[in-house]
Amino acid sequence: MTVILGVETSCDETAASVVVDGREIRSNVVASQVDLHAQYGGVFPELASRAHSESIYLVIGEALHRAGISLQEIDAIAVTQGPGLAGSLVVGVNMAKGLALGSELPLIGINHLEGHIYSLWLSPPEYSFLPDPIEAVKRWVAIEFPVIVLIVSGGHTELLLMTGHGEYKRLGGTIDDAAGEAFDKVGRLLGLPYPGGPSIQKAAEAGNPQAFELPRVWLRGDHGETNYDFSFSGLKTAVLRTLQNLDPTYKPDTPLHPDIPVADLAASFQAAVVEVLVGKTIRAAEEFDATEILIAGGVSANAALRAAMIERAKRPVRVPPLNLCTDNAAMIAAAGYYRYVTGERSNLEFDVLPSWPLT
Ligand code: KG4
Ligand code: ZN
Repeated sequence: MTVILGVETSCDETAASVVVDGREIRSNVVASQVDLHAQYGGVFPELASRAHSESIYLVIGEALHRAGISLQEIDAIAVTQGPGLAGSLVVGVNMAKGLALGSELPLIGINHLEGHIYSLWLSPPEYSFLPDPIEAVKRWVAIEFPVIVLIVSGGHTELLLMTGHGEYKRLGGTIDDAAGEAFDKVGRLLGLPYPGGPSIQKAAEAGNPQAFELPRVWLRGDHGETNYDFSFSGLKTAVLRTLQNLDPTYKPDTPLHPDIPVADLAASFQAAVVEVLVGKTIRAAEEFDATEILIAGGVSANAALRAAMIERAKRPVRVPPLNLCTDNAAMIAAAGYYRYVTGERSNLEFDVLPSWPLT
């Protein structure tokens, strides 16, 4: 039995978790700062690092307490080293270093994106293609590579080919806004509460996804073929133009004219994002003959994205449970487990890596 304590402070959630053998969550504590940042319509970096400082000690103590485990029973500490906000990362990393030093435990610095991927190993997936739960668990335990991974979060949109544990080839990613960032920015344009992702999903439930024709940006490579990169900033501008056409007096961050069809706009925007994400992911899965499609990161909570991927993919689609889509430390502990068992250890002199690519 290998017990890993995970610590995550890359953005606006202070999180700690105890995970056994990379799969079994014994505790998963997340102190969210969403309310703190909502008034700014986005994460305010200095406030984020100060809030991490205030809560990190309590959050780690609570994670150990809820797991009923002492530091002496932990095998290693896994901490997010990057990418993320430097001032936020430093709080978790320094706390983890102090704990590792004081308790003589090994420490492993984890890439936050790899953490999102390993959120998919934390609970048996519910596969649309494998209704038999025993088959699903078998596949969960012994996944067959290669798989295609789509990471869609507030900071990243990455399409990867995963050929083994810790082995990734980057196929493409966003060239401007991340998918979650686009949801957040459009949510703000539509006067919806922060964060925009869940607000847009909720508003879209009452809307018509075909009400507005918004652009699908497929991007072409040198030879005219569609590539695996994404671009969402034009879509955001298209929503802004549509708002301005509907109401020439429209100004962002001021109350919307009551006649603006917010639900239709939200549904049309969501459909445009989902169509491109699903189209490119499925094409990659076909090209590389993937056994499964894995989706992770905050936007993988999106119901329209999940439904469209499951409906269109001719292979199993793995999605995390909703509480593991957004930032948490269980995923960091799970990723830490796979690195720990291969003998990987970090020394205590590493720095945070705010823009650490996964590949
Ligand atoms: O993974 P995450 O917690 O943080 C980063 O690593 O960035 O992702 C947060 C992002 C936010 O942009 C939020 O709007 C988006 O995930 N999000 C969603 C949904 N829930 C969270 N986007 C679309 N639909 C959702 N249901
Ligand atoms: Zn994240």
